[in-house]
Amino acid sequence: MARVMAGLTTSHVPAIGAAWDQGLHETPYWAPVFRGYQWTKDWIGEENPDVVILVYNDHASAFSLEMIPTFAIGCADDFAIADEGWGPRPVPTVVGAPRLACHLAQSLILDEFDMTIINQMDVDHGLTVPLSLVFGSPERWPARVIPLAVNVVQYPPPTGERCFKLGRAIRRAVESFDEDLNVQVWGTGGMSHQLQGTRAGLINQEYDRMILDKMTADVAALRAIPHLEYLRETGSEGIEMVMWLIMRGALGDDVEELHRHYHVPASNTAVGHLVLRARD
Ligand code: DHB
Ligand code: FE
Repeated sequence: MARVMAGLTTSHVPAIGAAWDQGLHETPYWAPVFRGYQWTKDWIGEENPDVVILVYNDHASAFSLEMIPTFAIGCADDFAIADEGWGPRPVPTVVGAPRLACHLAQSLILDEFDMTIINQMDVDHGLTVPLSLVFGSPERWPARVIPLAVNVVQYPPPTGERCFKLGRAIRRAVESFDEDLNVQVWGTGGMSHQLQGTRAGLINQEYDRMILDKMTADVAALRAIPHLEYLRETGSEGIEMVMWLIMRGALGDDVEELHRHYHVPASNTAVGHLVLRARD
């Protein structure tokens, strides 16, 4: 049987990818950002997951305002790296896990989560920056990846509660797969940031730290946070953090925090990162 053994959350700021690709990770600005991921790099080398279900949002690379799926799952053999305007990032193609992805699509849809099925898609910084942060610069990514895209770009995004319940359904789906696989779920985006309007540059450290604490201590409180509270407290792009709740739901009721990193700023955001292990 396959199992969701662990999960992590991380910001996916595009400038982090650019800094990594240009070898700027030792510079005074970037060194403290990357230092917080060293623990995770060591840990993942030991965990060696077979498959990562990588929850992220597309930033008008694969989708546009013409088509906006709320939840979409990548079932392809592989996923090319998107050109976001300055050429694709120089990172390996993302290799998928189509048999598990199709099983997830079936299980989730029959479980009443109406996933959009994606058979071809380029993946952007939302997915590749977390891979670089955790795996560095390997010749091939050491795990297969199932992209799970969530609409947090155009109102209305799904609620945190809906995301949490999708995570629970993912856990059930993984456990009904017939192959022995070590599966991780990653939730990306956040933390507080606003890229537009009069509050551009907003960062709310106190609120971010509350979210980091409650991912293990009181997830019920996080599940109940309404959209307007995300908007008010974490800026217009802070809503990306509902994707963290998919990861959290997929880990089951009892989780342990293994590692935490929080740093301000990276580009316009607060960088937040947690590594969690499922206990049951
Ligand atoms: C930035 C952060 C994001 O999460 C994103 O998708 C785009 C830009 C930023 O901080 O610049
Ligand atoms: Fe983003």
